[in-house]
Amino acid sequence: MHLNKLIWLGLLTYVVLPAFKTKGRRFSKKLNKIWFDSLAIVMQNVSESSADFMNYGYVTHPNYKIEDIQDTPRNMYLHIATNGNKEDLSQKKLLEIGCGKGAGGVYMKEKASLHDYTGVDLSDEHIKMANEKISTENGIRFIQGDAENLPIADEKFDFVLNIESSHQYPNIIKFYKEVKRVLEAGGQFMYVDFFDANEVEACEKAALDAGLVLKKKDDITKNVCWALEKTSDTKTAKIQKGTPKFVHRFVKEWAGTIDSPLYRMLMERKRHYIHYVYTN
Ligand SMILES: C[S@@+](CC[C@H](N)C(=O)[O-])C[C@H]1O[C@@H](n2cnc3c(N)ncnc32)[C@H](O)[C@@H]1O
Repeated sequence: MHLNKLIWLGLLTYVVLPAFKTKGRRFSKKLNKIWFDSLAIVMQNVSESSADFMNYGYVTHPNYKIEDIQDTPRNMYLHIATNGNKEDLSQKKLLEIGCGKGAGGVYMKEKASLHDYTGVDLSDEHIKMANEKISTENGIRFIQGDAENLPIADEKFDFVLNIESSHQYPNIIKFYKEVKRVLEAGGQFMYVDFFDANEVEACEKAALDAGLVLKKKDDITKNVCWALEKTSDTKTAKIQKGTPKFVHRFVKEWAGTIDSPLYRMLMERKRHYIHYVYTN
C-alpha cells in the first residue's frame, strides 16, 4: 500500500505533473486525490505533527518571530476565519472545505469558540488521519467529500471557510455554487488561495455569477512570502531527513521553500495570494 503510494508520487512528480503544466494547475480530481493521499503518507515520516497544517502561512510583518513552523499556518487560519479579528465566530456553525488533516478545525473550534465545526476533504487519507487523531465529540466532524458536489444539505452554515485548496478544483464555478447553496442567507464565505495573475478576474467573476457578493479583497502575497522565508530552512532540513531523495523536488514545491518555483512566482507577482470575504 505505502510502496504503491510512493510509486504514484514519483510518477506524479516526474511524469504527470510536468505534462499537465501546459494545461494549468487544475488537474483532474482523480489525480489530485492520488497526489494528496500519497503526500499524506510520505509526510508522516517527516515528523509527527509538522505537516498537520498544510498552507503556506501568514505573518503580519517581516520581523515576526516564530516559535515553530506551525505558527505561520495557524496564523493563516485565525486571520482568514475571523477576517483579521473582525468577525465573532462564537456559537456559530462553520463548514471548512478542503480541511486537510483537521488541524485547523481543532484550532478554530477552541480559539474562536465555534458551536459546530464540519470539515470536508477529498482525500480519504486526510479524513482518516483527522478522525484517528481528533475527538469528534463536542461538535466536530470530518467527512470525505468533493468541494464541487458537497455531501451537505442546503443553507446549513453561518460560515464557509476555504484555505489554499480551491486552486486544485477543476471546476471552480461548481465550487462557488456549492458554497452559495450551503450558506444561510447572510452567511459569509471566508476564502484565501493563490491565483495565477491571469485567472484572478475570471475566478472573481465566477464567484459573482454564482450569486456571492464581494465584501473584501486583500492581496496578502507579501505576508505569505515572509512566512515562507521564516520557515524555509526548517522545512528543507525536515524534508531532506524524512523523505526519499527522488521526491524532494516535489515536496519542496508543495512546502514552498525559498528555492521552489512557487516562492519565485509569488515574489515575481506572477501568482497572487488573495484573501476574500464574500456574503450570501
Ligand atoms: C494545501 S491543502 C490545505 C489544507 C488545509 N486547508 C490547511 O490549510 O492546512 C489542500 C487540501 O484541499 C484538499 N482538496 C483538493 N481537492 C479537493 C476537492 N475537490 N474537494 C475537497 N477537498 C479537496 C486536499 O485533499 C488538501 O487536503
